[in-house]
Amino acid sequence: MQNSRKKFLQQLGAGLVMTGLPAIASAKKIRATIDLNDFDKAGNADDEKYWKRIAHKYYDVSKDYINLENGYYGIQPKPVLQAFEKNIQLANREGARFARKIYPELSVKIKKELAAFLQVSDEEIIITRNATEALNIAIQGYPFKQGDEVLINQLDYFSMIEAFRLLERRGKIKVNAFDMPLLPANEDEIIELYKQQITDKTRVILLTHVSNINGLIVPVARIAAMAKQKGIDLITDSAHALGQIPFSLPELGSDFVGMNLHKWIGNPIGAGVLYIKKDRVKEMNVLFGDINTAEDNIGKLAHFGTTPFAVIMTIPDSIAFHKLMDVEKITKRLHYLKSIWIDELKQVNTIETVSPRDLSCAIASFGVKDKKTADVADYLFKQHTILTVNRALGKEGCIRVTPSVYTAADEIKKFVAAIKEYAR
Ligand SMILES: Cc1ncc(COP(=O)(O)O)c(C=O)c1O
Repeated sequence: MQNSRKKFLQQLGAGLVMTGLPAIASAKKIRATIDLNDFDKAGNADDEKYWKRIAHKYYDVSKDYINLENGYYGIQPKPVLQAFEKNIQLANREGARFARKIYPELSVKIKKELAAFLQVSDEEIIITRNATEALNIAIQGYPFKQGDEVLINQLDYFSMIEAFRLLERRGKIKVNAFDMPLLPANEDEIIELYKQQITDKTRVILLTHVSNINGLIVPVARIAAMAKQKGIDLITDSAHALGQIPFSLPELGSDFVGMNLHKWIGNPIGAGVLYIKKDRVKEMNVLFGDINTAEDNIGKLAHFGTTPFAVIMTIPDSIAFHKLMDVEKITKRLHYLKSIWIDELKQVNTIETVSPRDLSCAIASFGVKDKKTADVADYLFKQHTILTVNRALGKEGCIRVTPSVYTAADEIKKFVAAIKEYAR
């Protein structure tokens, strides 16, 4: 374990080292800010001392308010931010020489590293600006035939729903929507529901791995297995799954998966990934003009033009730090923080929680009887400087609460006290 931690540490500043330019000293400096012993301890979910130390030492988080809206994007750990700053300086100082002579080879190495992290081949991924771009490439490039149907539900992310609705408007497909129960008793109930909704024309299921609305985690691998038997593909939206919960991408069994690196991996904003199983690449239509790349080369889908070098160069650093943090530890901590508030607010009869406690991780949502969600979120921010966000959900909507690894249990308790006072 100790050895593998050391290896991760060596990867920090890797983007800088890989360039071969005289920036290696900076990489060393970045590594020096990390003490491996900080990550050696058990780091149990309820070990406030451990998590406070990590938060204090490795994250520069505003003290002016309590951020319970970490579903938008994650704060970069300090060593990652440092690497990012160095990468920006490097790309800027070196100019076109960097872009022409160094970056092409460097970007190949970075892609390989990201693919290794995701346990897939680098011939199966492209780096995008975000999950929206990744999933649009999959949705709009999918080889639909006239009459094909797509299955979506109200907990899917609105941009993906709209991408499918756009195809429907253009007469390419028919979209069938159903209501996912907000509080399914277990995974079997979810799978059964999908079975019932499938028609003999269903070609694709949009599957949101972790809902951005109520945090519901769906059993992707089990749904994929069921769908595959019927010749149905999943386009899986794992924007919120990567880094928040542990999973093995190849074992998901989904041939098309879009992910984010700037939500739970801690990368600078502007990086996502699209995974397409190698033998499915050939049939995909390209979205950005490219007539020269081979049909079976996933690069044909990534003709983006000039990309944000420094954001991409920092990917090895954010992966290295995320590995140090350990996704198993992260997920247990996030679940614990969520459980503190949800368990307590469930007891209040003017509050309705709309997230299944054990089929969710960091993200969970609630509503207050007879109160508009925007007013509740406003009250929390104006009266208590606690940032949450109201989300559309049915008639009432809901208020989404998302702690992160740098959130203290005390902050969650302050939120609980504030909302109890309001909902009395
Ligand atoms: C479930 C889900 N999918 C996709 C996205 C899109 O992510 P991005 O805006 O980074 O493209 C989000 C963003 O919040 C999301 O929650």
